[in-house]
Amino acid sequence: MTRDKYKEQFATAVAAAFRQVYPDIYRDVGDADIFNSDTVYSSLEKPKDARMGRFTLPVFRYARILKDNPLDIAARVAEESNRLLQVSGQPHLVRVSGVSGFLNAEIDCTLMARETISEILARGSSYGTTDLGKGKTILVEYSSPNIAKPFGVGHLRTTIIGNSLRRIFKKLGYNVVGINYPGDWGTQFGKMIVAYRKWGAEETLGENAVKRLLELYVRYHEEAEKNPSLDEQARQAFKKLEDGDTEAVRLWEQFKKISHAEFDRIYEQLGVEFDLVIGESFFNDKMDTIIQRLQGDGLTRVSDGALIVDLDDPNLPPAMLRKADGATLYITRDLAGMVYRWDKYRFHESLYVVGSAQSDHFKQCLMVIDKMETAEGLPPEKRMTGKVKHIGFGWVRFGQKTMSTRQGNIIFLEDVISRAVSLATEIIHKKNPDLKAIDETARMIGVGAVIFSQLSVRRQKDVNFVWEEVLNFEGETGPYLQYTHARLCSLLRNYPGKISPNVDYALLDHEEERRVVELLADFPGAICDAVKQYEPYLITSYLLRLASSLSSFHLRMASTAAFNF
Ligand code: ARG
Repeated sequence: MTRDKYKEQFATAVAAAFRQVYPDIYRDVGDADIFNSDTVYSSLEKPKDARMGRFTLPVFRYARILKDNPLDIAARVAEESNRLLQVSGQPHLVRVSGVSGFLNAEIDCTLMARETISEILARGSSYGTTDLGKGKTILVEYSSPNIAKPFGVGHLRTTIIGNSLRRIFKKLGYNVVGINYPGDWGTQFGKMIVAYRKWGAEETLGENAVKRLLELYVRYHEEAEKNPSLDEQARQAFKKLEDGDTEAVRLWEQFKKISHAEFDRIYEQLGVEFDLVIGESFFNDKMDTIIQRLQGDGLTRVSDGALIVDLDDPNLPPAMLRKADGATLYITRDLAGMVYRWDKYRFHESLYVVGSAQSDHFKQCLMVIDKMETAEGLPPEKRMTGKVKHIGFGWVRFGQKTMSTRQGNIIFLEDVISRAVSLATEIIHKKNPDLKAIDETARMIGVGAVIFSQLSVRRQKDVNFVWEEVLNFEGETGPYLQYTHARLCSLLRNYPGKISPNVDYALLDHEEERRVVELLADFPGAICDAVKQYEPYLITSYLLRLASSLSSFHLRMASTAAFNF
């Protein structure tokens, strides 16, 4: 990772000052803690109030080891740092100030403006990127909806977060494989086949076919309550499907086709892409191999007729590979899939963007893989353990509504997107009726709002989807960012000349301009953090800060008569 030279110079000066001010303690503890510039570098924080400085080092946590009080530490170390700076002349750093237990960095804003803006002009849209991912393959699995069930909002977040991670990694030069792993296998297909034969008909599957399938699924569950023999029929139907019965397979293929047509429509609207679509059923003939491998490693045992792997975590149930009736499970397919992905790609990392509700499932998978690789004594370079990661996230809440596919009260993603677009259309008609291309603009705003809503909180937190908030042009929303972006584009379009890097940067000396420049300089760091934490939110929240700094800048400019944009 590239290092920030402002932080570097600050950390060097401050660590040296600590050594000067506290020589006895330095002699005792050595080059650890604040005496080491790397430690200082990584302990730097952003001050809550941007006016306090570019970054800050809180010294409270060192009070005990330095046997001094924080206010005095900050004052002494600041003074010594400034003395050292005068001697060594670090160009980017002007002064260190000690304020209430914090060491704040005051930097040369003109120099920062010159360096940052010239770099942006020189690098254009590659500004902020590095070649971090060169030569590395990263797998990102996301979306993975279930066949014969509608694409509900439950799969919105994985789709958006995963697609965003795919784009971020691509930008950093990784070889990214975006994987969709639809749920196209399991006992529910037995139920669907029974329901379809009893109550369905080919012609009902035209328009809105997925909704018809959902109706069949709901009806099945209602009727099965009254008539338990249906479940036995469903079991037999699934068995037939597993045995490759032509008619059962034909129906299953038909369900898949209907579902994929719907999924593709949604992906297209959301601009979501995959490099590989590989459903659960792909692993049907690959499970024996992993089962035998685990048996060969001595890791399995039979319990009540089922084949299981015991795990060394008291909080996790054993991993069940095969039920007593011989049926394999979701986890068996995932284990086969992990081995398949590793053998095929020898990835640098393989990510599973799946809701946190499945975190125990992934813990189980990863423990089984670890046990297997350990039992086989594989050398580190042949092991995928540590490279496979579950990227979890919280729920999306739409008011108080609880969702259950079985009862049919599910919110269709397609309906959410159309509602967003029609609300955006209404807003435009009200606010800007003369706009050209209203439909196209409304689509961009509506879809953008839905996408942004999923990235606007940290992924582990739940999202509360409230229409008025998501489409608010003034709040922290997608439309607000789009608006800021459109405004900047128009500014560029209307600027008559070519932007020259030979500018008197010292003129950018007001607080509002400094803030914009600082934020522009922060962009590479925001990308870096987003990648480290698999957290697109760090980019969206960064963009909101940037947009708000631009709006303050704009307000100031608008109040100076000479400038009008
Ligand atoms: N189809 C599953 C569901 O909708 C998600 C699959 C997640 N990916 C995986 N490799 N298990 O719940």
